[in-house]
Amino acid sequence: MADVQPTPDPDLPLGTSITAAPSAVSPPPLINVADYERLAAERLDAGVLGYFAGGAGDERTLRENVAAYRRWHLRPRVLVDVSAASAATTVLGTPVSMPVLVAPVALQRLLDPQGEPATARAAAAAQTIFCLSTLATSRPAEIAARAPDCQRWFQVYCLRDRGVTRALVQEAIEGGFSALALTVDAPRGGPRERDLRTGFAVPADVDMPAVRAAVGGPSCPTPTEFFSLVDTSVTWPVLEELAGETSLPVIVKGVQTAEDARLACEHGAAAVVVSNHGGRQLDGVPATIEILPEVAEAVGGRLEVLLDGGIRRGTDVLTALALGARAVLVGRPVAWGLAVGGEDGARAVLELLREELELGLALLGCPTPQDVTRAHVARAAF
Ligand code: FNR
Ligand code: LAC
Repeated sequence: MADVQPTPDPDLPLGTSITAAPSAVSPPPLINVADYERLAAERLDAGVLGYFAGGAGDERTLRENVAAYRRWHLRPRVLVDVSAASAATTVLGTPVSMPVLVAPVALQRLLDPQGEPATARAAAAAQTIFCLSTLATSRPAEIAARAPDCQRWFQVYCLRDRGVTRALVQEAIEGGFSALALTVDAPRGGPRERDLRTGFAVPADVDMPAVRAAVGGPSCPTPTEFFSLVDTSVTWPVLEELAGETSLPVIVKGVQTAEDARLACEHGAAAVVVSNHGGRQLDGVPATIEILPEVAEAVGGRLEVLLDGGIRRGTDVLTALALGARAVLVGRPVAWGLAVGGEDGARAVLELLREELELGLALLGCPTPQDVTRAHVARAAF
């Protein structure tokens, strides 16, 4: 953002304070995630805003995911050579510019006509991984065609009709997706009361083609109808079932206890995402940053631990790294970028998070994400 400086008046004595002449009215700059969220809220209609911003029940967990970061202080070390500080790292062996990935978020054409391909291209430009939701408004094949440079994962729900799940996975494999993220915290849809208040419904012209193709039939189920397809009887051996049908690594998204982290290790998961679905499922569970330490300890380095929920600042990423995450995923921040500026907006949000993170690494005294340790955070005294 250009810093407009008023031209000094030669007749004024030196040092006279000059207030900037009111410049032409220009919109305030978008500097951080909160700026994008505010502008998205202004632009989106109530139904769409409620769907993307909303959480379950009283939205305690939705708020806690963000608020919990205030309970952790960073402990910077000084006189460390940070001249080459960089956020670059790898996740499941894939090089990324930063340990910040794009979480699977449904129905992105409700935010921008270009939808998920725009977000995928933004992730490619930011050199990070994009995770496509099963309930996306684009099929895996479309992402492969319109964002070929994007490192991509496919998020799946285990459906009662395994043939449908298999069809979805097969399309992802053919589309060059490099991992599956099995979402396990949503055997049923969470109670989204904002959607009830706004009467939110997916417009008839907005399609979820992967689901429609896999389910078959002329029309596409709504997200609510979709959840009736999810297999609520599925248990841990489904990981071996999936792994047996695909060579792709399976990431378990939605782990919230040490017990389940251990089971994920025992059943061959490649990674876990400590996630509560952005506070959209069971209201009243802790913030993911509060769950992370027990999961990281239970996993004991046997697989990579990721986290999502409430990441809004580069410093939040530092806290997650210190408490055991290899990387984080962001959902709503990128959604707000997409809503405000399409592909450019989504990319701008990812870039600002990387810049915040790289500055934070330098100020924390950590040249790389791997240098961030448990000693770099302390629980706030209050
Ligand atoms: C989601 N999330 C989600 N997760 C998933 O596994 N499949 C999905 O289809 C969706 N869809 C979805 C839609 C919307 C509108 C939101 C906000 C979230 C959850 C998402 O992957 C992630 O867990 C959270 O969004 C992370 O929290 P933040 O970053 O939004 O605070
Ligand atoms: C949601 C589902 C689609 O959170 O995962 O809206």
